[in-house]
Amino acid sequence: MLIERLLLKTFRNYVYEAITFSPKINVISGANGSGKTNILEAIYIASHIKSFRNCIDRDIIQWGKNEYYISVDVKSDVISTIEVGVSLRDEHPEKKIKIDGKEIKKISDFYGILNVVAFFPDDTAIISGPPDIIRRYFDSLISKVDKEYIELLTSFKKIIKNRNRLLKDIPQKRDIIKQLDIWDSMFSDCTSTLVKKRKYYIENYNIYFKTLYNEISRFNDNIIIQYHPSLFTENAEDIKNELISRRNIDIKMGTTTLGPHRDMYVVYGNENKTFKSYASTGQRRLASIAMKLSEVSIIDKVKKSKSIVLLDDVLSELDVDRRKNVLQKLIDGHHQVIITCASSNDVTIVDNFKHLKVVNNTVSE
Ligand SMILES: Nc1ncnc2c1ncn2[C@@H]1O[C@H](COP(=O)(O)OP(=O)(O)OP(=O)(O)O)[C@@H](O)[C@H]1O
Ligand SMILES: [Mg+2]
Repeated sequence: MLIERLLLKTFRNYVYEAITFSPKINVISGANGSGKTNILEAIYIASHIKSFRNCIDRDIIQWGKNEYYISVDVKSDVISTIEVGVSLRDEHPEKKIKIDGKEIKKISDFYGILNVVAFFPDDTAIISGPPDIIRRYFDSLISKVDKEYIELLTSFKKIIKNRNRLLKDIPQKRDIIKQLDIWDSMFSDCTSTLVKKRKYYIENYNIYFKTLYNEISRFNDNIIIQYHPSLFTENAEDIKNELISRRNIDIKMGTTTLGPHRDMYVVYGNENKTFKSYASTGQRRLASIAMKLSEVSIIDKVKKSKSIVLLDDVLSELDVDRRKNVLQKLIDGHHQVIITCASSNDVTIVDNFKHLKVVNNTVSE
């Protein structure tokens, strides 16, 4: 899968910008704040629906305007154009997504269609941050390759919202406790499959992770990611029984205390120590890069098509040899790569690349 052309209209700092990409390495350079990451953000939205930035759609619309529009021309066997448009209706942003001109209504019909894996400076939070960050990372990854997973996850979020609302109301209206039975059944069925799928994908992921980490870092570490489900079982009937036995705790807390929303993924390193307890800044960066490279491998394998790789200034922290190792891995894998960096000198280790320069809110070759 390749991105041939990106069109942006009133998106962040771009009024109207058409950018064509090389199928191999593309380097976007420009001063700080010139709009390099904004280009990756647009591609990311066309792949993941939402921005990787913690922002609302309105922030993305060019200041003083009422809408933004992204169009991505893709070369693949499956699709050729993805369009995302957001317009402000009575101050509320309304988002429309089209694939090959056909409007998409369900998130599961969109997620994972444009195979993009993005590397961002904040990625080390997957390793060092709170448990929900790595959980969300794996939810997003599995959702890209497994349509049933994203559908189940969407249902699970609705189930838990309803169950928690009920738990909060029970102390005031004791007789509604009976309604928990239906939510517990749905919760158990959903959880059983979610946990099984998480186990399956983490096992496959680890096959790549340790090798990739050691290849790019040149360490010889025993690095592994372990999945720790919060429930003791993956059998739907047993999950239901566990929920029933914990009902009083859940009612007291006013929330569902165990389940996929509380599961943990932990990165372990040498001597079975948690990786974050000893790893240096560079090692965390390398591990987060190895995680994204493992994601690339899983997506390529399941989708039988090469993912597009976005690198937002993540190489500058690495020493020259390790920077080379990462880029070489992507070049050898024949991926289309789009890199941003403040100075194109950062990537001169690569022989051939298309150079895109951002100056005065315009991109030139
Ligand atoms: N809604 C918006 N409308 C217009 N301009 C915006 C909007 N949102 C952000 N910008 C502009 O985009 C700039 C940031 O762009 P971006 O993050 O892509 O910079 P960058 O080139 O990646 O910088 P760095 O090298 O520091 O990472 C801001 O300085 C701001 O001027
Ligand atoms: Mg940037």
